[in-house]
Amino acid sequence: MTETIRVGNLRGIMMRAPGMIETLPFYLDMWGLSLAHQADGEALLRGTGAEPFLYGLKDGDTYGIEYVHFAMPDRASMDALHAQAVARGAEVLGAPAAFDDWTGGYGFEVLDPDNRRLRFRTEARVLDDEPDWAKPRKVSHVVLNTPDMDGVQAWYEDVLGFRTSDYSADQMVFLRCNTDHHSIALVRTLYPSVNHVAFELPSLDEFMRSIGRMKQKGHVPSWGPGRHGPGNNPFAYFVSPSGYVIEFTSELQQIDEDTHEAKVWSRTDPESMDRWMTAGPPTPAQRAVMQGRPDPGFPHLAKRNRGAA
Ligand SMILES: [Fe+2]
Repeated sequence: MTETIRVGNLRGIMMRAPGMIETLPFYLDMWGLSLAHQADGEALLRGTGAEPFLYGLKDGDTYGIEYVHFAMPDRASMDALHAQAVARGAEVLGAPAAFDDWTGGYGFEVLDPDNRRLRFRTEARVLDDEPDWAKPRKVSHVVLNTPDMDGVQAWYEDVLGFRTSDYSADQMVFLRCNTDHHSIALVRTLYPSVNHVAFELPSLDEFMRSIGRMKQKGHVPSWGPGRHGPGNNPFAYFVSPSGYVIEFTSELQQIDEDTHEAKVWSRTDPESMDRWMTAGPPTPAQRAVMQGRPDPGFPHLAKRNRGAA
């Protein structure tokens, strides 16, 4: 059996909501991102690194993920990933080609089993680094709610080469595509939706200062600060003006492929859930906002729904 091609890294995510672009000042003045580009009902927000955008705001009639955005190192690996996705029966939306958007580059898209759109891009626009104290550097991870956690986990492993880093009881699985403990995590829920998107600060000091910036502007965390068991990363969750959960994090565990073994973390032991035990368990309101609104996805793009060969 040929070795499974692995996705390179998580670039970020494009989110959609009614009136989402009106919420731009929240991300610029409070969250610590900068405007990279705005046109055609989309606003692209950058961090301090070279990535053209970490978080995209798109106006639309429904709430959900427009696409999760991944990188591949070069065209050869992109073509190989595409061939693998086709061979393993994924819902591939066309062959690799040039993107004609501002971010540019070359790649393709697939739908995952929940009809979420995933975009893979190489040779994207590269921005100059803009180091700035206590501003997000990259998107750390995206957590997805799914009614079929086991099936979706198997799909990300088989089609995209993700590996399982840890479990939180039988309710959550953490998946890695590189040394980051998780770039994607899945939560067992009633319907597909986005659970949260996490932004990485370069240090614990900058993580705390980012919480302070939010507090000074009137936004307290809806959960946290605390420190997760799986991934060992500090967390502070906020609710965006569109009702999406976003997280500040830092110091995510780095995985050694030779020695790491996935384990199942308790969801009843307080110190397994929050190593600092400063945050405590999430409130029912926090759980509700992390369940989110059903994401319709892109079922109309799927060949399986068009009856075509
Ligand atoms: Fe998180």
